[in-house]
Amino acid sequence: MFYDYCESGSWTEQTFRENSSDFDQIRLRQRVAVDMTGRSTASQMIGQDVAMPVALAPVGSTGMNSADGEIKAARAAEAFGVPFTLSTMSVCSVEAVAEATTKPFWFQLYVMRDKDFTRRMIERAKAAGCSALVLTLDLQILGQRHKDLKNGLSVPPKPTLRNLVDLSTKWGWIAGMAKTRNRTFGNIVGHIDEVSDLSSLSIWAAESFDPKLDWEDVKEIAKLWGGPLILKGILDAEDAKMALQVGADAIVVSNHGGRQLDGALSSIRMLPQIMDAVGDKIEVHLDSGIRSGQDVLKALALGAKGTYIGRAFIYGLGAMGQEGVTKALEVIHKELDVSMALCGRRTIDELGRDILLVPEDFEGRWQQN
Ligand SMILES: Cc1cc2nc3c(=O)[nH]c(=O)nc-3n(C[C@H](O)[C@H](O)[C@H](O)COP(=O)(O)O)c2cc1C
Repeated sequence: MFYDYCESGSWTEQTFRENSSDFDQIRLRQRVAVDMTGRSTASQMIGQDVAMPVALAPVGSTGMNSADGEIKAARAAEAFGVPFTLSTMSVCSVEAVAEATTKPFWFQLYVMRDKDFTRRMIERAKAAGCSALVLTLDLQILGQRHKDLKNGLSVPPKPTLRNLVDLSTKWGWIAGMAKTRNRTFGNIVGHIDEVSDLSSLSIWAAESFDPKLDWEDVKEIAKLWGGPLILKGILDAEDAKMALQVGADAIVVSNHGGRQLDGALSSIRMLPQIMDAVGDKIEVHLDSGIRSGQDVLKALALGAKGTYIGRAFIYGLGAMGQEGVTKALEVIHKELDVSMALCGRRTIDELGRDILLVPEDFEGRWQQN
């Protein structure tokens, strides 16, 4: 059920598939006889030092892929030197992750109808020492994901016959879950009066996420937070300009990993126009579809200052816990480093469009009125 929750997009999954396959259309230019000694992938995202510009994206229910999953992923990110982003819909609470780590992490906010909850959540993220707020704008209404409907996704899973049969083959998971008290949405349960138990994600989202959220609300949240602000879910140049106006520090070009508006273009295909519109005025990050260090390289070469991985680290976590997240980061790091060198570049600063071969019609000719 939780693997299906990750490995899915909304409706036909076209956007989910194209997020990755569009990266494959871009090719790299092989260069030779360039001094490749003294290479480094070190860089900065919103002014914070990173070992490579690859953050862990906010992923709801991470703690269902492995017991205490958020803590394991945050620790792996901290040791590697990349940012970890904790979702509002995490299993381990913001306080629990802060207690288990030694460096600040980022907090991702979903805006709820309950204004008081949103305000308190921001205060809790501040109190936990979070060093950036990632405000997600593309999920005030949930895109329909067929696999979740079929599985009756819930956190924790309901003891239906189907789930019990499935669980009977997952003893490692059960043993891990038996040892932890983190088994439901830690940031929510106990913090909203009427919510003592959360079952179906779609029911919760339909009832609790604020579908009214607009740019005025974004300004208000920026004020309440008062720190580094990253707006996530920007896929259109017009919205990127709005993000600029509200004073965000960065935007994440993202379609939520193809989980929301099926039929939207992939993030990597939309990146060039967004760079043209705001790239010299605001830091642009990208996620959705990154599965390798070469994908990271392509996004950086097209102008992104940072990238995020979602599924790529979640599968490492599900397979091998904290070690698996470290392994995923190592795989991506090595591919980025070696591919960069084979393109004749030694540092992230040296990356540019000139290392790429981009099909002439990559951005596509779409009628836009
Ligand atoms: C299982 C799953 C849960 C997610 N939950 C959240 C979330 O709680 N908040 C959020 O802003 N984005 C969430 N996302 C989107 C990710 O932050 C990110 O945009 C996406 O995973 C990037 O695509 P990728 O998985 O292809 O790397 C989720 C993605 C997945 C796969």
